[in-house]
Amino acid sequence: MTDFSCARRDFPEGFLFGAATSSYQIEGHAHGGAGRTHWDDFASTPGNVVRAEDGGLACDHYHRWEEDLDLVRDAGFDVYRFSTSWARVIPEGRGAVNAEGLDFYDRLVDGMLDRGLKPAATLYHWELPSPLADLGGWRNRDIAGWFADFAEIVMGRIGDRIWSAAPINEPWCVGWLSHFEGVHAPGLRDIRATARAMHHVLLAHGRAIEVMRGLGVGNLGAVCNFEFAHPADASAEATAAAARYDAYYNQFFLSGLFKGRYPEAVLEGLGPHLPDGWQDDFAAITAPVDWCGLNYYTRKVIAPTDAAWPSLAEVPGPLPTTQMDWEIYPEGLGYFLRRTAADYTGDLPLYVTENGMANADILSNGAAADHARIAYIDAHLAEVRRADDDGVPVAGYYVWSLLDNYEWALGYEKRFGLVHVDFGTLKRTPKASYHALAKMLATAD
Ligand code: FCB
Repeated sequence: MTDFSCARRDFPEGFLFGAATSSYQIEGHAHGGAGRTHWDDFASTPGNVVRAEDGGLACDHYHRWEEDLDLVRDAGFDVYRFSTSWARVIPEGRGAVNAEGLDFYDRLVDGMLDRGLKPAATLYHWELPSPLADLGGWRNRDIAGWFADFAEIVMGRIGDRIWSAAPINEPWCVGWLSHFEGVHAPGLRDIRATARAMHHVLLAHGRAIEVMRGLGVGNLGAVCNFEFAHPADASAEATAAAARYDAYYNQFFLSGLFKGRYPEAVLEGLGPHLPDGWQDDFAAITAPVDWCGLNYYTRKVIAPTDAAWPSLAEVPGPLPTTQMDWEIYPEGLGYFLRRTAADYTGDLPLYVTENGMANADILSNGAAADHARIAYIDAHLAEVRRADDDGVPVAGYYVWSLLDNYEWALGYEKRFGLVHVDFGTLKRTPKASYHALAKMLATAD
């Protein structure tokens, strides 16, 4: 596919298109006085990350941000979703502020406004300062207070100019993927740590919302990630296993945020490991938000196992996959948009805050023919329009990602960008998907 099948006019009035990135994945954390993070520690431990790569240089966005913001503007995007690195702003996690770090985000926000872009800030996209990891990181209840202080410092500086803010990107990845599966920093496989991290991440979210409201910052939201859970076969056991996966992946956080309780199916496993008094924290966790963000990429095929709770395993499925080996299942996006509105958020605006695909893009004669990415985005945009037709208040769609970048444990190998990055020269080259999107976004409002 070389062109999109839709135009701007096919979307509701005021619908916003954006591009998303995150600090550690693009900035180059070795520059500008940033402190060490648990991702640096995780990456320096053999076996955790492909070729032990880290975010030390990444895309060098720290020095090339003007060129990068020009790319966002020139594509015709309305919104730029970025994140602020805790360790860049407060190198030790608490205490002294790195003025250079705060100045960087100040310039970046002004740079977006100069280019007519709406700044959509995420306070935390995973690079926890190492000194806080030493204190137990997300396992330690005190993190809610540390995080609220960080929120106050960042938003005290840029909160007057941003368009939207969300405290934490993807609580599931912060909690489960990092503490139960050990796939992300800090790389734990420990159910007690998992339960605590999953709860504290929501408490920290609530405290940050309270702080930002206090500062008068508006348009505050929460961003969760979702994977459609498909049973491996028609048996009752496979159906129940997929339901458990769905509960701890897709329902736990929304339920906490919007209903002030956790699903029974998750408490079966995590209940005994939650910190004392967790039930008393929902007043803070359910602090009202103005919108909800959904990050969506794929579905997983789930089979039951005899192992300990949650007694399930992912198995390969039959659908075409991306460079991540993730099945392409656009219908899942429509499903989650409808379910989130129906069961959790009602009339609250929903944004697809991340969607996109990794592709093994190769530059040839200065071009990357990523036609598969155009087809992927086009199919997911069709689901957004269907959800809108069904009355779901979906208000925007942001592509992950602007640039090829540091894909966490998979290093620099997986290319998610609309713009190709040569990690030797750091040269940016817009791919076919970038040009096709620019063309689509220019076709009449
Ligand atoms: C999401 C993350 C983002 C990126 C994409 C592929 O879970 O938010 O940083 O890694 O997946």
